Amino acid sequence: MKDHAATAVGLSRWRAPQGIQTTTQDGTRRMAGAAKLVYDGQELELPIIEGTENERAIDIGKLRGTTGLITVDEGFVNTGSCKSGVTFLDGEQGILRYRGYPIEDLAEKSTFLEVAYLLIYGELPTKEQYEDFQHSITVHTMIHEDLKRLYDGYPKDSHPMSILSSMIVTLSGYYTDSSDPLIPMHREISMARLLAKTPTIAAYSYKKSIGQPFVYPRNNLSYIGNFMNMMFSVPATDYEVDPVIERALDTLLILHADHEQNCSTSTVRLVGSSRANLYATIASGVCALWGPLHGGANQAVIEMLSRVHEDGGDAKKYIELAKDKNSTFRLMGFGHRVYKNFDPRARIIKKACDDVLKKMGVHDPLLEIAKKLEEAALEDEYFVERKLYPNVDFYSGIIYRAIGIPTDMFTVMFALGRMPGWIAQWKEMIENPGTRIGRPRQVYNGATERRYQDIGKR
Ligand code: ACO
Repeated sequence: MKDHAATAVGLSRWRAPQGIQTTTQDGTRRMAGAAKLVYDGQELELPIIEGTENERAIDIGKLRGTTGLITVDEGFVNTGSCKSGVTFLDGEQGILRYRGYPIEDLAEKSTFLEVAYLLIYGELPTKEQYEDFQHSITVHTMIHEDLKRLYDGYPKDSHPMSILSSMIVTLSGYYTDSSDPLIPMHREISMARLLAKTPTIAAYSYKKSIGQPFVYPRNNLSYIGNFMNMMFSVPATDYEVDPVIERALDTLLILHADHEQNCSTSTVRLVGSSRANLYATIASGVCALWGPLHGGANQAVIEMLSRVHEDGGDAKKYIELAKDKNSTFRLMGFGHRVYKNFDPRARIIKKACDDVLKKMGVHDPLLEIAKKLEEAALEDEYFVERKLYPNVDFYSGIIYRAIGIPTDMFTVMFALGRMPGWIAQWKEMIENPGTRIGRPRQVYNGATERRYQDIGKR
C-alpha cells in the first residue's frame, strides 16, 4: 500500500460562495465556490451544488476518475443518492413538505387520493383532474379471480406483509403486455393498478387470516371507505363506514405518503433503476418496509407497549432497559435517522390519537403507557443527548387498534400509505434521462488471493 500519510487527505471548506453561478437543468444551482480535496500531492476541486431549500452538497461525480478514490459512508448517513423534487424534509427544524406543501396543511385539509396525485404529478389537481384520477383508480380495484386462489396456498398465520409483497410482484404476471417502465402509457396504467389493487390485496389477506369470505371492492365508496368495507363487512349483515374512522385513516395515510430517501424508497429507486417493472420494484419496497427498524416499528411499538402493560406498566424500568447497552431492547417508535428535533408527523398523530379515541369512546391503557414512556424518555439524559423523539410509528398503532385493525396489519397500513410516495419517486427516477443503474462500490476487506486446496488436504 502506498504511504499517503505525508499527503494526508484533507477536504477544505469550500471557498465563500460568490453567489449563484449557474442554475442547472435539474433545478439545482452550481455554486461559485468549490470544496478542495488535497490528495497525493494533487489538488482537486469538487463542485458544490445547492438545492431549492439551500441544502448544499459536494458533487463527487469525478472523484474516482480523477483520483482513483471512492468514498465510504456506511448506512448512507452523509450520502445524497439523487436529486429529487418530491419531498422536502428538514430534520433539525422538524419540517416535512410534499411538493412544497406543509404536511400540517395537507393532513388537515386534503385527502389521501389528492395527496397521491400531488406526489405523483407534482401539482394539486383541478376538480376535473381529480375526478379523472379517482375514476382511473376506481376502475382497477378488482383483482383477477385466479389471483384470489393464490391465497389458498398461504398458511393461515402468514404475515400479511409476505402476502402483500408476493401478490404485488405476482401482478406483473397478469399484465405482461403493459408493464414496460420505459413506455409512458404502461407507466400510467401500472401506477393506477397498484394504487387501486393494493387495498384489495391487503383486505383479502386479513379476511384469509380470519377465515371470512373475501369482500369485493365497491366503486361507489371512497378509497378509504372501500378499503374499510372490504376489511370489516361480511355478506351476512350490513356495514356502514364510520366517518370518524374514515377521516382518521385518511389522515394516517397522508402522513405516511412519502418521506424522501428512506430505506424502502431507496430500495424502490435501486430496484427500479435496473428497469424492473413497477410491480417487482414496489414489491421490493414492501419487503424493505417490513423490517422493525423501518415500517415494522408500528407493530413492534404495540407489542412493546403490551409487554410493558402486562409487566405492571413501569415505564422507567423499560427506559432503563432501552439505555442498557447489554440489552437488545430499544424503545420502538423512538429515534429517527433524519429528525433530530421532533417528527412533525408524530405531533399530528398524537393529537389525532387523543381525538379519535375520545370520539369513539375508547379507553386504551396502551395510550397511557405510551404517554408515560414518552414523558420519561424526554426527561432522560440518554434520550435528550441523542436527540431521540417519538417518530411517526409511536402513536399510529394505537389509532389502528381503536379502529379494529389487527396488529400484524399495521405495517400493511403503512405500505398502503407509502404507495404514492414510492410511485412518485420511481416515476421521477425513471423519467429522468440522466438516471443510471444504481450500483454502489465497496472497500474489499476479505482474504487476498489464495490457492484452492483439495478437500482431503484442508
Ligand atoms: N432506543 C434506545 N436507544 C436508541 C434508540 C431507541 N429507539 N434509537 C437510537 N438509539 C441510540 C443508539 O443505541 C445509539 O446510541 P449510541 O450512540 O450510544 O451507540 C444512538 O441512539 C444513535 O442510534 P443509531 O441506531 O445509530 O441511529 P440510526 O440513525 O442508525 O437509527 C433508527 C435510526 C433505526 C430509527 C433508530 O432510532 C431505532 O432503531 N429506532 C427504533 C425503531 C423505530 O422506531 N423505527 C422506525 C423509524 S421511522 C420509520 O422508518 C418509519
